[in-house]
Amino acid sequence: MVEIRLVDPEQTRPLRQKVLRPHQTLEELVHPGEKHPATGAFGAFAGDEMVGTLLVFPETRAGSTSGAQWRLVAMAVDPDYQRRGIGAALISACLDYIVARGGDEVWCHGRTKVIDFYEAMGFMPDGPEWVDEYTGPHYVMWRRAAS
Ligand SMILES: CC(C)(COP(=O)(O)OP(=O)(O)OC[C@H]1O[C@@H](n2cnc3c(N)ncnc32)[C@H](O)[C@@H]1OP(=O)(O)O)[C@@H](O)C(=O)NCCC(=O)NCCS
Repeated sequence: MVEIRLVDPEQTRPLRQKVLRPHQTLEELVHPGEKHPATGAFGAFAGDEMVGTLLVFPETRAGSTSGAQWRLVAMAVDPDYQRRGIGAALISACLDYIVARGGDEVWCHGRTKVIDFYEAMGFMPDGPEWVDEYTGPHYVMWRRAAS
């Protein structure tokens, strides 16, 4: 049984480093979005252990005209806990959080290797694939916040 809770953004950094960015130090993992006063940092807990995380905060998606836009970053589930619905539970919690704060849309830089996850979560691609030097191919992915 996994519980989804709001946490301090700093708490998410070790899992983000392990799952997403092993090439960076914990200090380098401080995301500018952590500083926004409306930021929601979510942790999925199995007992005391954080096994999943994501962050959301207001940020405009280039070219979008769909109202209040929020960005999702740091979507990560520990490899030992993947494919058990934890990523889906984190997305559901962040959508509730965004809607409760008047958000209309959520978007992210989705890694191509997990694009099926984002599509299963209702996200759609916007524009062509592009490549990050360290983390590989991505698409901009977005969806309406309300279901
Ligand atoms: C992507 C990630 C967050 C998904 O988390 P998860 O807890 O494993 O996902 P869920 O179990 O909630 O999956 C929900 C649905 O998404 C789809 N899905 C999830 N992972 C998938 C994958 N690797 N490939 C294809 N479809 C996937 C499936 O439809 C799945 O439902 P199912 O298991 O009933 O078939 C996780 O695999 C992860 O952390 N990957 C490594 C880091 C990463 O790439 N993060 C994204 C950065 S943009």
